[in-house]
Amino acid sequence: MNIYNILNKKKNAEELTRDEIFYFVDKFTDDTIKDYQASALLMAICINDLTFEETYNLTDAMLHSGDIVDLKGINGVKVDKHSTGGVGDTTTLVVGPLLASVGINFAKLSGRGLGHTGGTLDKLESIKGFNVGLSIDEFIRDINDIGISINGQTANITPADKKIYALRDASATVDNIGLIASSIMSKKLAVDSDVLLLDVKVGSGSFMKTEENAEKLANTMVKIGEKFGRKTAALITNMDEPLGFAVGNSLEVIEAINTLKGEGPKDLTEISIKIGAKLAFLSGKYSSEDLARKELIENITNGKALLKFKEMVSRQGGDASFVDDNSKFKISSIRKEILSKSNGYVERIDALAIGEAAKELGAGRETKEDEIDMGSGVILNKKVEDMVKEGEPLATIYTENKESIDDAMSLIYEAYKIGEKKPDNYKLILKEVDSFV
Ligand code: URA
Ligand code: CA
Repeated sequence: MNIYNILNKKKNAEELTRDEIFYFVDKFTDDTIKDYQASALLMAICINDLTFEETYNLTDAMLHSGDIVDLKGINGVKVDKHSTGGVGDTTTLVVGPLLASVGINFAKLSGRGLGHTGGTLDKLESIKGFNVGLSIDEFIRDINDIGISINGQTANITPADKKIYALRDASATVDNIGLIASSIMSKKLAVDSDVLLLDVKVGSGSFMKTEENAEKLANTMVKIGEKFGRKTAALITNMDEPLGFAVGNSLEVIEAINTLKGEGPKDLTEISIKIGAKLAFLSGKYSSEDLARKELIENITNGKALLKFKEMVSRQGGDASFVDDNSKFKISSIRKEILSKSNGYVERIDALAIGEAAKELGAGRETKEDEIDMGSGVILNKKVEDMVKEGEPLATIYTENKESIDDAMSLIYEAYKIGEKKPDNYKLILKEVDSFV
């Protein structure tokens, strides 16, 4: 077997065998196959696509390139969720405590923010003392004790994906459904939860720009999950505006806490309850999703979900008084309202542009080494369907960096599309792809 023949095959749109795919992944990971050869293959894949069988084999090869996180020490069913990357998406911080409050284990290894998307670990670190560097044993112990832990990835998961992704990023080969599906699923399968819910975003700022492609991606990932024996389902959700009002680390954690109190934004509440109810049903604890939904809503009303969040904060070394008193969060000192220049209705809010604005203000990273200003970001004062008058605030920005204000302002003006007519009902949850087993 050699890489030249593999390249030739894919160039001619032939299907690669399982052995050829494993050969490519192994030999690229150990540097035998060069970057220029690998990028040629990735480009051929983008042009000729992968079959389902190839996508499955690529997932398997990348999954086995590194460590598998063994969670068998957790008593009972454990569930996991993944979002393909939204803006202002704080769902994990709501769904996790909600599920744990009804006795379902939520075992989540999260990531940091990069570019215009935020990361759950960064958000949690806006709570003084919160430790996302637990060992796997501590992670398992916490889940057995309180039903939840949200932690960083300490293990060496899917090194092949890291290497391939870096190359894709530099060679315009990110946006292929088979490559995205295998990249995401190899990482999720490397952590052995029982149930996985995928939230596939569609629209600006997400990988899939059309509902049709988002559905293809969701179907492929659900099929892969099922073939590996993981109960997997997906939602396709709209990103024609950021989720909730807050985009930024402290700002989003405060928003998550409000949502757990039943006082959160409508869209974040809706999607969190949907994801939670679906996971709760798939976990086998409830006979229907409706029943699960009722109990989750009850635990928001009676305060149990919020209490669980507080328990998680204490357990991971954080200052739990932040949960009761949100004035303890650091909020950046420069605050400026961005005023509407026209009258009308908000038709859409480009999530990518808002994410970029938040990043400029200090909430995100350009490169992995950049530091984050926890208190910076954007609060959306107007959302899709809202009426707005000239001179009313569209959004409020928070930053410590005066120089970033002008750029953030133009990004926000660019993001808001204001029209004369009230737009049709904004649909947040567009489709569901159900588990087959
Ligand atoms: N997220 C991933 O982890 N991989 C992709 O290829 C795209 C999104
Ligand atoms: Ca938000």
